Amino acid sequence: MRQPAAWSPRMSPGPGPAPERLAAALAEDIAAERLRPGARLPPHRQLADDLKLSVVTVGRAYALLERQGLVRGEHGRGTFVSASIPDEAAAFIDLSLNLPPPILAEAQFAAALQRVAARAAGISTQRYPPPAGRLEHRRAAARWLAGHRIDLPAERLLLTNGAQHAIMVALGLVCRPGDLLLVESVTYAGAKAAARLLGLRLAGIEMDGEGIMSAALAAALQGPDRPAALYLTPTMQNPTGRTLTAERRREIAALARRHDLPVIEDDVYSVLDDPGRPTLGELAPERVFYINSLSKGLSAALRLGLLAVPAGWEDRAAAAVQATAWTASPLTSFVMAEWLQDGTAGLVAEALRREVSARQAIAAEYFPGVRPAGPAAMHLWLPLAEAAAERAARRAQALGVIVTPPGATVVDAARDCGLRLCLGAAPSREMLGRGLGLIRQAIEAPEDTIF
Ligand SMILES: Cc1ncc(COP(=O)(O)O)c(C=O)c1O
Repeated sequence: MRQPAAWSPRMSPGPGPAPERLAAALAEDIAAERLRPGARLPPHRQLADDLKLSVVTVGRAYALLERQGLVRGEHGRGTFVSASIPDEAAAFIDLSLNLPPPILAEAQFAAALQRVAARAAGISTQRYPPPAGRLEHRRAAARWLAGHRIDLPAERLLLTNGAQHAIMVALGLVCRPGDLLLVESVTYAGAKAAARLLGLRLAGIEMDGEGIMSAALAAALQGPDRPAALYLTPTMQNPTGRTLTAERRREIAALARRHDLPVIEDDVYSVLDDPGRPTLGELAPERVFYINSLSKGLSAALRLGLLAVPAGWEDRAAAAVQATAWTASPLTSFVMAEWLQDGTAGLVAEALRREVSARQAIAAEYFPGVRPAGPAAMHLWLPLAEAAAERAARRAQALGVIVTPPGATVVDAARDCGLRLCLGAAPSREMLGRGLGLIRQAIEAPEDTIF
């Protein structure tokens, strides 16, 4: 099979050993299907000449890929991209994807869709729902939130296409291009991406074992560069898994009030948390844009998020949803309502909590020295200096495990840097354990080891 004409070989950037960087670049091209199954890789000598490498380096890179099951060498014919996705034993274990562990069976999806289909007569197929979503769906979502997290009127709640969309809408409401946005010193990669798209500047607030420190926030609010808003995840923060105590939340709410600061509270991990700590949305409802999502607690495939805005912002928020997506996907809103009402959401949340704490226990076996941020956090954060984190990510990839590179989440590397391991993404506990073992190997190997 011929290569796609556009493919040209390259090295992954960075300081690591050449075989690892070449293997990483080729693995990325295979994953992105720039190199298709069956494609023949260039002969060793040709690739070495093209990239100004030695033939030995190319041989080592091909051997690494073969160990991962991504390519196979055929004597006398060359090296070919594997014809099918490698099986579990050989494939990459991807711990970079922040997904809930698989709980809902496909059959449950099919059954919910059938129930929705049976009521299709009640679903207007030709009309757009209102930008904020149908009121009955907003009410179902408000009841779900009230049941485990925050009690607020459905009229202040808008449906969005995932929390990511809600972040974009909230930032669009309170920030203008060039504005300064305060965030945790390591933050959710999607919030960084949204801020970049909106032309915002970021300032990272120093964190301790709970999350952002009130004194650091107070200092940031005193400077001449007045921030437009604060974005934070007070519960099971992504990427560190840290949770703010009630007392810290009260301090942050008081500071926001004193400095008239809008706050965007991302609470997507609420179903994993023990109730008891107040949300910022309850402590300062007049200024907090509260975000939740069905992705973690039910299914990422729904692409449904929730945005509660302070009273008086409802129309502007609806206009912002309309400007960015018109409205949340109505069909999945029906599935959400079905699952929130028939008890599926409660069962999934319970199973999810059990599964996440079992996975945390596995993580503790491999990284006993790492202080767990909480029994139900979906990530493990390994604090590492920037260069060590990058090296470990690259080496882990060479060993067949993908982790989030530090650059995706770090705002201020001098303050906080490390590797985020997503505990939910592996399809099984066994694969998670295997992946964590390989990551430990990647971190602990002496600097000059070539994998
Ligand atoms: C903190 C945080 N906010 C938002 C999201 C995005 O959620 P959604 O899938 O609802 O867009 C994620 C997903 O990983 C997240 O970790």
